[in-house]
Amino acid sequence: MIKIWIVGSSGQIGTAINEVLDPLEVEVFNTDKDELDITETDEVLNFGEINRPDVIINCAAVTDTDVCEREPELAFRVNALGARNLSIVARKVGAKMVQLSTDDVFDGLSKTPYSEFDDTNPKTVYGRSKRAGENYVKEFTHKHFIIRSNWVYGRGNNFVTKVLDAADEGRTLAVASDQFGSPTSAKDLARIILYLIPTNEYGTYHATCKGVCSRYEFAQEILRFSGREGSLKAVPTSESDLSSERPAYAVLDNFILRIIDVYEMPEWKRSLEEYMKEREED
Ligand SMILES: NC(=O)c1ccc[n+]([C@@H]2O[C@H](COP(=O)([O-])OP(=O)(O)OC[C@H]3O[C@@H](n4cnc5c(N)ncnc54)[C@H](OP(=O)(O)O)[C@@H]3O)[C@@H](O)[C@H]2O)c1
Repeated sequence: MIKIWIVGSSGQIGTAINEVLDPLEVEVFNTDKDELDITETDEVLNFGEINRPDVIINCAAVTDTDVCEREPELAFRVNALGARNLSIVARKVGAKMVQLSTDDVFDGLSKTPYSEFDDTNPKTVYGRSKRAGENYVKEFTHKHFIIRSNWVYGRGNNFVTKVLDAADEGRTLAVASDQFGSPTSAKDLARIILYLIPTNEYGTYHATCKGVCSRYEFAQEILRFSGREGSLKAVPTSESDLSSERPAYAVLDNFILRIIDVYEMPEWKRSLEEYMKEREED
């Protein structure tokens, strides 16, 4: 039975991986900050050496971009050095390493989608710390999958929940109409991660749902699928209630997935519909 260590298992993506994997086929070690802080180098090494996973999936990170701007040392400690610690242990025990990453490694100034072969140029502390994490993974492991995604929503606090909360409370929400991305459900991301793991197709991947929209259109669709009325106002990012400093054009081209032609991500509206249905059923 394959042994997978999911690091940051209580977050959106860690939770989705646990929901999607087959517990009969996989032995899972779940850890989050309370059990194991990835910045504690010796503890990370000990855990890895005792449990000897076949795969380490690093979903742990400081993902709040405002916190990263305020506390850059924390951001680099977790997002960069934490990834380094896990990479060291992956190499030591011969495990495959899966590192989650983000469109924030790009500057967002392009007018066309970023492929895996485009140069990175992060503008935020979050983006710089995530790129540093990617670099450590590349430096310390050779059996790795670096998976960049964007606008991910799953269980937990995210853009979808913020839009729904505002509608439930009768608040008008000012949403950026000048930020573009591809909303991606955590479950769809989990599925591509689990698809790649048994393969030897190592390297960096862009994995987002198909299609592009603005934050404003995303919010409109969330309300539509939820059947709620809600009040939205399209505004530039500077006047938005929800968006802090983020790349304006956060669109990733799933170029490698397309050219190896083995896996297709679903359309973002279809995924959102599935997610909203599951939410209502919970
Ligand atoms: N969400 C997105 O839109 C998105 C898009 C692209 C890429 N990603 C990447 O995907 C990964 C997972 O994202 P997510 O949305 O699942 O994030 P999330 O919900 O914020 O989960 C991150 C988890 O990491 C934990 N964590 C923080 N510091 C830690 C530490 N020092 N040691 C161990 N665990 C720690 C957090 O615990 P606490 O909550 O207790 O701090 C949280 O449970 C991240 O690498 C992120 O950069 C996310």
